[in-house]
Amino acid sequence: MSHTRSVEKSMALYKRAEELIPGRTQLISRRASQFAGGVSPVYAAYAKSARFVDVDGNEYLDMMNAVSAIILGHADDVVDQAVKEQIDRGSIYTLNGPLEIDLAEELVATIPSAEMVRYAKAGGETCAVAARIARGTTGKDIILFCGYHGWHDWYQSANYLVDPESGEFPFAGIEPIGVPRVLAGTAIPFTYGDLNMLEDLLKQHEGHIAAVMMEPLRSELPPEGYLEGVKTLAHQYDALLVFDEVSCGWRLRIGGVQEYVGVIPDMTILAKAMSNGYPMGAVVGSREAMEPASQMFVSSSYWSDNVGLAAALTTIRELKRRHSEPFFEYMGEKVRTTINEALSAAGLSGSCVGLSPCPALSFDLPDPALTPLVSTLFVQEMAKRGVHTQTSFRVTMAHTEEDIRILGDRATEALSIIKAGLEQGNLEDLLECDLKKEPFRRLVK
Ligand SMILES: Cc1ncc(COP(=O)(O)O)c(C=O)c1O
Repeated sequence: MSHTRSVEKSMALYKRAEELIPGRTQLISRRASQFAGGVSPVYAAYAKSARFVDVDGNEYLDMMNAVSAIILGHADDVVDQAVKEQIDRGSIYTLNGPLEIDLAEELVATIPSAEMVRYAKAGGETCAVAARIARGTTGKDIILFCGYHGWHDWYQSANYLVDPESGEFPFAGIEPIGVPRVLAGTAIPFTYGDLNMLEDLLKQHEGHIAAVMMEPLRSELPPEGYLEGVKTLAHQYDALLVFDEVSCGWRLRIGGVQEYVGVIPDMTILAKAMSNGYPMGAVVGSREAMEPASQMFVSSSYWSDNVGLAAALTTIRELKRRHSEPFFEYMGEKVRTTINEALSAAGLSGSCVGLSPCPALSFDLPDPALTPLVSTLFVQEMAKRGVHTQTSFRVTMAHTEEDIRILGDRATEALSIIKAGLEQGNLEDLLECDLKKEPFRRLVK
């Protein structure tokens, strides 16, 4: 098979972006340096179902799905129809729209921790709303956190706590440029799985902790009893427990990870997949945690946007109607098996494991220092074969078993090339791009 895809137009646009847009992209994970730069596409022209076409006219099977914001599939007919009908009625009104109440009722009926609801648009912004409410409700300043929670000052101030020796916490390699130093110490990270560390921090800052905010999981199950332990500790020290389900929500259970693990937080942060590609976020929580927000200054014009509300309401109802939970479980298993078969067929040592919403491929290499090279080669060879992916895979409800078969075929070819390079000791010669960069080190795997 020849692989003659050109991404010339993508790269020309990327060059223009350098002149016009500081950092070139709006999301770090969309930078060319995160993929096989010069081989992977950078700009898309359109997307439908499980595929997109880039500006050079190449079609790709999409295993990234807008960093998991797409859950039903790109440009889903039902959601888009609801959005189009809403646009015809007006996207935003002078007054409030009744969809605010409809979606709140749907969320209360769906998410176990939800009794009251506030809206926002992006994930990080929704985290900032949750941080404000948690501080306002408890009258305390410090937030202990574990996970990625966006770009806002309240959170990025934690980067002032980086140990210059180890480079630990929270985003190795990213400096908090522009974040006020006076915020240092108001958001403190803790290590996932380590209850002793959390307890020490709660003790050390007793009386000052507003919330323990965390991603309850990403692609692996938490250690037995861990989340229950976090909840007990948080409440023992009068702090609210906040789950950030921006990335882990919706796929495992429509009611979120909290429904899956049976640990109900005081507040939950939702965004991304809740609206299948239209900007929408929500903080939901108990009446006790949320009601004091009525006295706080938490206010923004576009949080009343009816397009996002219509998209979210329709997406949640469609997930239920299409029985998303068994679908994602089945397809996740299918991806794991298929990628493991591809590894075997290529004769390469490694495994694809992880919860169904996000199975991930890891290589068992003779020298672990080769991992960045091998990961980049995998992304490069998959891109050349029309699959846009990292070494983890997220399906949508538009992906079919045939798509997973294609993923497996392409992965077998890519992994065979890597295997041959390892055997012949010429892996570096196979690289047609710079090594891809990791955006930042995540605290929850
Ligand atoms: C857990 C979590 N919280 C917050 C965010 C930030 O969301 P956004 O990029 O929409 O601001 C992300 C994004 O990846 C996330 O994974």
